Amino acid sequence: QERHSEVEQPTTSATENVVMQPFVIGVAGGAASGKTTVCDMIIQQLHDQRVVLVNQDSFYHNLTPEELARVHEYNFDHPDAFDTEQLLASMDKLRNGQAVDIPNYDFKSYKNNVFPPRRVNPSDVIILEGILIFHDPRVRELMNMKIFVDTDADVRLARRIRRDTVEKNRDIGTVLDQYSKFVKPAFDDFILPTKKYADIIIPRGGDNHVAIDLIVQHIRTKLGQHDLCKIYPNLYVIQSTFQI
Ligand code: ADP
Ligand code: C5P
Repeated sequence: QERHSEVEQPTTSATENVVMQPFVIGVAGGAASGKTTVCDMIIQQLHDQRVVLVNQDSFYHNLTPEELARVHEYNFDHPDAFDTEQLLASMDKLRNGQAVDIPNYDFKSYKNNVFPPRRVNPSDVIILEGILIFHDPRVRELMNMKIFVDTDADVRLARRIRRDTVEKNRDIGTVLDQYSKFVKPAFDDFILPTKKYADIIIPRGGDNHVAIDLIVQHIRTKLGQHDLCKIYPNLYVIQSTFQI
């Protein structure tokens, strides 16, 4: 629709019509697969660009007092655990050049909106990271590039045990119960089926330097085209018809 109006309304100056949208990258994969590590490595390599990371964890629903009282029965790995409408609203603002306040999630208290929220400014690159970030088609449609971090289940479990016992102060029995009751079934039912949407599947996560270098190279190429469009706005119409 927008493309049509750009072409059909030549009376308006070309520069006024150009809305430079950020390059959106989705990074999905099982819990503790190395998603955050991969994102951090991409961000490090793109240090000269405006890049922002948005975590799906920030959009966990707050629990009701009843759910909090029986938190071990709550499924944090189900798509319904996330407030996807709020994520979409935040992305809409960012894509339209507005800053947003994104809630901070506290894994220890299970609470969102931990004060102060994180102020996220519009950027050239937005990385959306989370276990179920490819689940909702409306979120997938925002993405210019989709990456799935593919790490063996035993490696993910080993990392999770270490992380949850050390960083989240949970006991190993609770971690293993949650894994067999919710984490593994949700991976099989909801996360793994979204691998087919990925443009790139990275085995070994952050250890895969070749994959990360190639991804960064591709992003730089796309950002270069972006810059070219700022100088020659009419190119935008041509560029937007190309898929990555
Ligand atoms: P995710 O974001 O998918 O949950 P993280 O990147 O946070 O995964 O990694 C989960 C845990 O595993 C963290 O404690 C991290 O330090 C560790 N980790 C990640 N990648 C590696 C790796 N390649 N080798 C060893 N440990 C890793
Ligand atoms: O960072 P990562 O992708 O690993 O985060 C997702 C994981 O966090 C899920 O597997 C979910 O079970 C876990 N989680 C948790 N406790 C919460 C919220 C999420 O263990 N309060």
